[in-house]
Amino acid sequence: MSRSAHPAGPRHADVLPEGHYTPPPADLNALDPRVWSRTVSRDADGVVTVGGLDVKQLADDFGTPAYILDEDDFRARCRAWLGAFGEGADVFYAGKAFLSRAVVRWLHEEGVNLDVCSGGELATALAAGMPAERIALHGNNKSTEEIERAMREGVGRIVLDSFQEIARVAHIAERLGTRQRVQIRVTVGVEAHTHEFIATAHEDQKFGIPLAGGQAAEAVRRVLKLEHLELVGIHSHIGSQIFDTSGFEVAAHRVVGLLKQVRDEHGVELPEIDLGGGLGIAYTPEDDPREPHEIAESLGEIVTRECASAGLAVPRISVEPGRAIVGPTAFTLYEVGTVKPLHGLRTYVSVDGGMSDNIRTALYDAEYSVALVSRRSDAGPMLARVVGKHCESGDIVVRDAFLPADLAPGDLIAVPATGAYCRSMASNYNHALRPPVVAVKDGEARVIVRRETEEDLLRLDVG
Ligand code: LLP
Repeated sequence: MSRSAHPAGPRHADVLPEGHYTPPPADLNALDPRVWSRTVSRDADGVVTVGGLDVKQLADDFGTPAYILDEDDFRARCRAWLGAFGEGADVFYAGKAFLSRAVVRWLHEEGVNLDVCSGGELATALAAGMPAERIALHGNNKSTEEIERAMREGVGRIVLDSFQEIARVAHIAERLGTRQRVQIRVTVGVEAHTHEFIATAHEDQKFGIPLAGGQAAEAVRRVLKLEHLELVGIHSHIGSQIFDTSGFEVAAHRVVGLLKQVRDEHGVELPEIDLGGGLGIAYTPEDDPREPHEIAESLGEIVTRECASAGLAVPRISVEPGRAIVGPTAFTLYEVGTVKPLHGLRTYVSVDGGMSDNIRTALYDAEYSVALVSRRSDAGPMLARVVGKHCESGDIVVRDAFLPADLAPGDLIAVPATGAYCRSMASNYNHALRPPVVAVKDGEARVIVRRETEEDLLRLDVG
């Protein structure tokens, strides 16, 4: 997660404190297209609009905080992924990034498949009409009920994560009298350059079966012997928020190596490989993510080359982007409350949400940017920390960012790139009511996930 060492130079009246923050932009009113969704702009009055709607109106109609999701941007990113990988590949959206029935319908309409990793995600996918054969079930500890439901519904693949699960899935398939298509998730031993909590391909962690020591080869051996399992491929997911394609390349190389070993040992060419998700996005203008077509080209090239040298037919590739599809499509709209300047330090700007709607800053030290969106300001930059209203000093949304020095209670500010892992990881901490997700498109706004109410909270509290 990038972080520049020092600002270009103090532009605020106060001397800037120690810290790591990106320099104030030349124009605080500018909206950098690297971090804002594609229909975002500022109108003649200085108010930010998205999907043809102004944020003041959105705040009046739907309240704050709210996640505002740009449907055109979401659909365009689906098409970019499909276009980049082409006919010979499949794109599975990782539902954990953000899932709702509307999103499932958009994916279905655009031709994107869906990854789920829990019974709840599976239920949402099926409720919105995603054909079961286009769904993949993941997870390192799937319950018997989850596996059984997935199988009864006819999911296209179950990704096996352990030796115990191989036996369990085979047993359930036998009981149900079915033959289940499966992949084996392997850990390829790559150290992804990302936060330790979201790196998943080094060997010392809970996901997958290591290639090292021949364990993955042994898993293949076992699955091939089980008549109720149809082994269609090998799966690898190296981690999340990755900018560098080299980790994916090493993973592709090692997965093809296993395919070759399987062919040599069993005379079987597995027809699929899945290289997971994990492509990074820009949270601040300093982040420089790869485009889907760059990933597609480099993966396509390496898989083709490795297969040619191993004498294998090129398998069908699939990928599972979550963040890179939904992340940049949404921003969180907040109303500014208390503004507290701490002399010689920074100004604490409190908003009406916080770690309950965005835990990523507290959990991963994630960086975000922020802008004043309800008006234009000609005031100079002030170093701000955007904090929530929760009872924790770690309740930080944006650690260090510049906002106009005339920021005042009642202003609206927005944090871009909150489409992934914000609503899906939201909590009711302090009995906060989780914000709605409002989809905007062509001048129309539609609530796709409504705001929680106190009744919702009390309904679960059975007294
Ligand atoms: N495929 C598998 C098997 C995964 O486990 C994941 C993410 C993905 C695909 C999608 O990865 P993406 O393209 O979205 O990076 N809560 C963390 C991210 C956890 C990701 C877990 N697995 C965060 O907020 O950064």
